[in-house]
Amino acid sequence: MSVAHQLDGRARDAFRNSFGYLPRAVAVAPGRMNIIGEHTDYNLGFVLPAAIDRHVGVALSLRKDPGVRIRSDRYPMPVDFDTLPDRRQGNWTDYVLGVACQVRGVAEAAAGFEAAIVSEVPVGSGLSSSGALEVAVAVALLRAQDLQLPPLEIARLCQRAENSFVGARTGVMDQFTALLARAGNATLLDCRSMHHEPVPLPGPAFSWLLADTRVRHELAASAYNDRRAECEAAARELGVASLRDAGPDDLERITDPTQRRRARHVVSENARVLQAAAMLQRRSPRALGGILYASHASLRDDFAVSCRELDLLVELAAQGPTVVGARMMGGGFGGCVLILLETPGLDGLEQYLAEGYARVFHRTPEFHRVRSVDGVMPGAAS
Ligand code: GLA
Repeated sequence: MSVAHQLDGRARDAFRNSFGYLPRAVAVAPGRMNIIGEHTDYNLGFVLPAAIDRHVGVALSLRKDPGVRIRSDRYPMPVDFDTLPDRRQGNWTDYVLGVACQVRGVAEAAAGFEAAIVSEVPVGSGLSSSGALEVAVAVALLRAQDLQLPPLEIARLCQRAENSFVGARTGVMDQFTALLARAGNATLLDCRSMHHEPVPLPGPAFSWLLADTRVRHELAASAYNDRRAECEAAARELGVASLRDAGPDDLERITDPTQRRRARHVVSENARVLQAAAMLQRRSPRALGGILYASHASLRDDFAVSCRELDLLVELAAQGPTVVGARMMGGGFGGCVLILLETPGLDGLEQYLAEGYARVFHRTPEFHRVRSVDGVMPGAAS
């Protein structure tokens, strides 16, 4: 039985235990890794993510009254509302409530609902537990009302929930991946046209290891929005709609040195995504190494979203004889480093990283050996 099917069963059980009857709809959505293309999605550039075998499951039924009841295996406190709140609560339920408000915008019915959530995506590690939760809630809510929306519309709906309800001005990469990823592949996504194509990931001789620094910086959310504003300011000065339309020759026209560095990251990262996709298409995974390290250096020096813990893990990984390449992954300021390595080196590398990291930071990273999987189950209507 697949990991997604197991979580589907767990979500159904959790629902029955909480509410005493069977749920009307269940959806299971995966977290994601991103091979490359960081902070490019909201600049309408390119990304190369893949869904991973860590999921969020949501089992749900509509209520006859407007009440909302939410239960989670991660947060023991039951959450009950008389009606769906239209303002953020400042906690994890905002991902559920924000999506429900958006779904209410497209559905006729204004009924309440009750939902049980089970999750195996670590929170705050940069593996998009929030994107997976949003997508699972959206798909389950739509199914419970027998509504069908194209996956891209569901991705946009979830992104709107995160932007306007939660208040994080994130791009569309995470939600897109949770919906449309294909096992064995990354997806090369053009975040402007939304054109997407599968890119084959290396076979079993190579593995993806995510090493979580276990650092969570409070400033991450506000710094993310700041970076986005800096990119938008740089685009405005260049007279282009987004940095997607800027090239290396434009950079010197940006007067503010910070904005110029931010733009340099975006322009160079977009080029690296296309290079990396070409290397994977050519089945040359070893050629990814230099591109991954260059991405990390750019995120550290130009985009300034790394931290000492992430830098150390990348430096240590680079010394591993079986390592192809490594870089920080996701929004930054903590979370995970993505490492591509030869599979037989997994045990040795984990030990080496744990010891080296503990020598400096007096704690060990948490490791996730991940496989690529399909997007949301059951499949959203296409
Ligand atoms: C977070 C956001 C994504 C993306 C990444 C950085 O994961 O949710 O939209 O911007 O950061 O690449």
